[in-house]
Amino acid sequence: MNMVTSAGYPEPSLAALRNKLGAAAVLTGSDVPARNCNDWSASLPQTPLAVIRPLDAQGVADAIMTCRQARLPFVPQGGLTGLCRGAAPEAGWVAISLERMTGIEEIDRASMTMTVKSGTPLETIQKAADEAGFFFPLDLGSRGSCAIGGNLATNAGGNRVIRYGMTRELVLGLEVVLPDGTIITSLNKLMKNNAGYDLKHLFIGSEGTLGIITRVVLRLFPKPRSTMAALCALKDYAAVIALLDAARSGLGPLLSAFEVMWPDYWDVITTRAGVKPPVAAGQGLYVLVEAQGTDESVDAPRFQAWLEELMERGLLADAAVAQSLAQTQAFWRVRDICAEFGQVLGPHISYDIGLAVARMDEFATRCKVALATGIKGCESVYYGHIGDGNLHLVSWVTGLPVEQQPKEEMDTIIYGLVREMGGSVSAEHGIGTLKKKWLGHARSEGEIALMRTLKAALDPDHLLNPGKVV
Ligand code: FAD
Ligand code: LAC
Ligand code: ZN
Repeated sequence: MNMVTSAGYPEPSLAALRNKLGAAAVLTGSDVPARNCNDWSASLPQTPLAVIRPLDAQGVADAIMTCRQARLPFVPQGGLTGLCRGAAPEAGWVAISLERMTGIEEIDRASMTMTVKSGTPLETIQKAADEAGFFFPLDLGSRGSCAIGGNLATNAGGNRVIRYGMTRELVLGLEVVLPDGTIITSLNKLMKNNAGYDLKHLFIGSEGTLGIITRVVLRLFPKPRSTMAALCALKDYAAVIALLDAARSGLGPLLSAFEVMWPDYWDVITTRAGVKPPVAAGQGLYVLVEAQGTDESVDAPRFQAWLEELMERGLLADAAVAQSLAQTQAFWRVRDICAEFGQVLGPHISYDIGLAVARMDEFATRCKVALATGIKGCESVYYGHIGDGNLHLVSWVTGLPVEQQPKEEMDTIIYGLVREMGGSVSAEHGIGTLKKKWLGHARSEGEIALMRTLKAALDPDHLLNPGKVV
């Protein structure tokens, strides 16, 4: 007689896997940690049958084969900071967590590459690059918790896309375990390698639906020797566009971040999160501009002069320039504080819109009105990586627990507007399950059909993270 789990799946031979990988690699029952039951999104946790925590690609392959033998769905997990339920298990699935696969294997100074295990936290990689005299530019508010494998799987964006591109641009090679347990080691370090299909791009941004990434070769960059930051207040969005134009032409390749915050965001962080920004409220929109260069003695005065000229031209209502690293960090705190919206606002739903830069304010204005008039008590705040055409918003109805937040109504209003304005339902966070219904608002039928063909080719049994993305 075949044993079945309470969720109706056949019982996998976890005891054999435990013997092979060690007791610490297989957690079941009350040993399953709460953190492995959900990602960072506002959704209800589900308990997996087991959490498997291998130490290497072979261990991942063994875990996959154990799941396959029982025809049990399995989900890869990195730092679990995803915002779309991509890494969240369904009840009775197996979670394959990369959390014990951490560490930097090699820094190749001549190739300017770093080879890392996929569970390594992003911040560890940033620090290791810095200590070696290099720079790894990927930077997200979740840097302390997210893992590089998760960053690849989501093709994460973040704060420096305007200068260095998305995660996809920062990867040269990877190792991946396919849904059938095959290990593909493609730790390419070559900048130029057109020998056939560039397979890494199949897995980058696939949200753990095509394979489990176990190792990664990252590009390193020269370490910036100067960082300049300014927090600017501007009277309207036309001035924001003019500032972006001036930053692109005046700062050129030094421009490393252009983050915009709408007045409602400013209001929340100053009145409810206790942040004391260096420019006064009530001015309109707020922009954090960052530039990074190679020579402090030249770059800092040039940045200051550039801003002063804009001030004289009347483009800026107010501006503060950071005079120290501590001040630069304090300016970034104004932007990063949104990581604490859970405590500040209570249950809320996060959105991640891709849109033409020119139409951001029109979207924010129309969306805010549509949510407030369409849903009783609905509030929303707007901010984002506007230099990259990426707006974030969070919306909520005060006092409602997460499961009672009117997400479906919010989605309908927000994604309807996104489609009308020719945008994308995800600029950087991905689709997971939470946005799956809306994929057709941003991708054509042909594109979605090809995604399904690829999924079926690599995972014909639909056991790897089934039901996610497409
Ligand atoms: P997880 O949440 O564990 O997983 C994400 C997806 O990747 C899941 O589908 C999972 O199955 C898959 N996956 C994970 N590891 C692997 C692997 N090794 N192989 C294959 N698939 C895998 N995102 C941005 O893009 N830009 C931002 O600026 C940004 N800021 C954020 C700020 C905060 C405060 C928070 C909480 C989140 C933010 N995010 C941002 C979202 C999130 O941090 C990113 O999506 C991040 O890349 C997820 O990494 P993770 O390791 O936490 O992945
Ligand atoms: C940010 C996350 C939400 O940019 O992507 O803060
Ligand atoms: Zn973001």
